[in-house]
Amino acid sequence: MDLQNKVAIITGASSGIGEATARELDAAGMNLVLTARSEDKLNKLAASLTHATFVAGEVSDPELPKRLLEEALSSFGRADALVNNAGVMVVGTVETVDIEALCQMVRINVEAAFRMAYVFARHFKQHGNGFIVNLSSISGTTNYPTMAAYCGSKHAIESFTDCLRLELAGSGVGVGCVEPGKVATNLYQNWSEEEKQMVAIEQPLVAEDIARGIRFLLQQPSNVNIGRLLITPANQSA
Ligand SMILES: NC(=O)c1ccc[n+]([C@@H]2O[C@H](COP(=O)([O-])OP(=O)(O)OC[C@H]3O[C@@H](n4cnc5c(N)ncnc54)[C@H](OP(=O)(O)O)[C@@H]3O)[C@@H](O)[C@H]2O)c1
Repeated sequence: MDLQNKVAIITGASSGIGEATARELDAAGMNLVLTARSEDKLNKLAASLTHATFVAGEVSDPELPKRLLEEALSSFGRADALVNNAGVMVVGTVETVDIEALCQMVRINVEAAFRMAYVFARHFKQHGNGFIVNLSSISGTTNYPTMAAYCGSKHAIESFTDCLRLELAGSGVGVGCVEPGKVATNLYQNWSEEEKQMVAIEQPLVAEDIARGIRFLLQQPSNVNIGRLLITPANQSA
């Protein structure tokens, strides 16, 4: 896709990978619709970009995908790409894990991502073009103790991405996922010191490393669909 003047919707845009992706796609000439809960952060980010607007909201709100599509159409007249990025990571042992927090994670990482993808897939299919990037993880391809539900949520994203890619093949709509290894973001901010130690790595990636990967998927010519992109720190061995 030639990204100049095309329109991308980015969930989880208020920090980390979503924020870096907003800057990367802005630099590529895209117009952006941003979403997350933190209205102040979205406001500041949108004001620092060339053509960006935002809708603050809870990503698991079933009405949000439709509102984002309407915002893209009313502000920019079109929608071309969805970056399905919002996510959280709740971990813990069988004894200690907060089951309610786990279930809320599944609503955010899985249910909300599915709702978002279907609303945009329908629109893209009607118009015969578009691309959906889902944020998976290395945890979507590998398993780790104490991360059962997070790994499960990202394995679900992997399977969902591939099924949608197959269903939409030939429609002009592409689907792919990005699988980051450890990236230094706020994702780990509520973890205990012991939990942080489990994923400690000397030189994690920065959010911009993943943003470049997302741009790479979107920039492919229409005869190419990159379905998966694993991006890890060069020194990550597990
Ligand atoms: N960091 C890593 O090592 C890593 C590795 C592999 C995959 N990933 C994936 O990358 C994606 C982005 O994570 P990140 O590392 O950039 O983390 P982050 O800095 O914590 O960003 C998460 C984003 O999601 C939004 N969000 C969280 N809960 C939300 C909710 N209930 N409603 C609306 N928005 C919500 C947050 O915004 P608000 O708080 O403002 O709502 C924020 O913008 C996630 O899907 C994550 O699983 C990250």
